[in-house]
Amino acid sequence: MKTLGFIGVGELALYTIKGLRRGGYDGAILLSPRNRDKAALLQRKFDCQVQEDNQAVVANSDFVVISTRPEDCLETLAALRFRPGQVLISVVAGVDIARLEGVLNENLKIVRAMPVSSAEAAASPTLIYPEHAYVRDLFAYCGNAICVDREDYFNQGSILACVYSWFFALFEALTQATQGPRLPADVAAELVMGMAKGAAELALASRDRSPGQIAESIATEGTFSRLGLELLESEDAFGPWRKACKLLEKRLADNE
Ligand SMILES: NC(=O)c1ccc[n+]([C@@H]2O[C@H](COP(=O)([O-])OP(=O)(O)OC[C@H]3O[C@@H](n4cnc5c(N)ncnc54)[C@H](OP(=O)(O)O)[C@@H]3O)[C@@H](O)[C@H]2O)c1
Repeated sequence: MKTLGFIGVGELALYTIKGLRRGGYDGAILLSPRNRDKAALLQRKFDCQVQEDNQAVVANSDFVVISTRPEDCLETLAALRFRPGQVLISVVAGVDIARLEGVLNENLKIVRAMPVSSAEAAASPTLIYPEHAYVRDLFAYCGNAICVDREDYFNQGSILACVYSWFFALFEALTQATQGPRLPADVAAELVMGMAKGAAELALASRDRSPGQIAESIATEGTFSRLGLELLESEDAFGPWRKACKLLEKRLADNE
């Protein structure tokens, strides 16, 4: 089992490590000391070891995860001394491999990964570039790994890590819309999320049909489903979702 070190112990490190441990990952996990509360919690409850400083994390790890915010990432890495053979896993959005290489003292293997907070519930569909057997197996402890062989696929795919957060807002709107005297809020919420999960499971299990084809096959003429879908389409309900994706695509391109 390799030793995994995290530089930057914020939200992502917290949910990823919780997910890894709950999924049964029992390798050593080392943490940078900044953000003491989260690091102390992870040490106490999730069998991690807080190191004296960032360099100690690097010195004692085989795989180093850089998990600071994007604006701190390059400066943080530039201050560290890596040794040959180590692997750097970057979860930092919008910073490509060439820019990471530009600040490293060694010619390291670099793998980008984009776990989302459902890692905590062992359900992160983690995008990875390029494919790396150990990194793929690592993220399988907290969901499943989806490997791509081009960095522009990774950049474009990472937009969906933001779409993931919009789903919660949609769940909330649908729960609010259906709860009331005729349906308790907790039942509405369970149904909303259960339907979303069920739809996703069916779409994933039916690769011969697109999600749009599945919708058409359910919302047939004269059904209640059709009635609602027609209203959503006539009000261009999906147009703003496309626009929001385009906005992020442009922002990522501006970052490059
Ligand atoms: N959160 C998500 O849902 C999500 C999803 C996908 C990808 N990501 C990516 O994951 C990265 C981390 O996101 P996050 O949400 O975890 O951010 P966060 O909660 O702000 O955590 C970042 C942590 O890094 C620390 N840090 C900054 N500079 C450091 C340094 N030189 N040495 C050690 N620690 C340092 C920060 O400390 P201070 O607060 O003291 O500055 C903070 O504790 C980002 O690059 C983001 O793009 C996040």
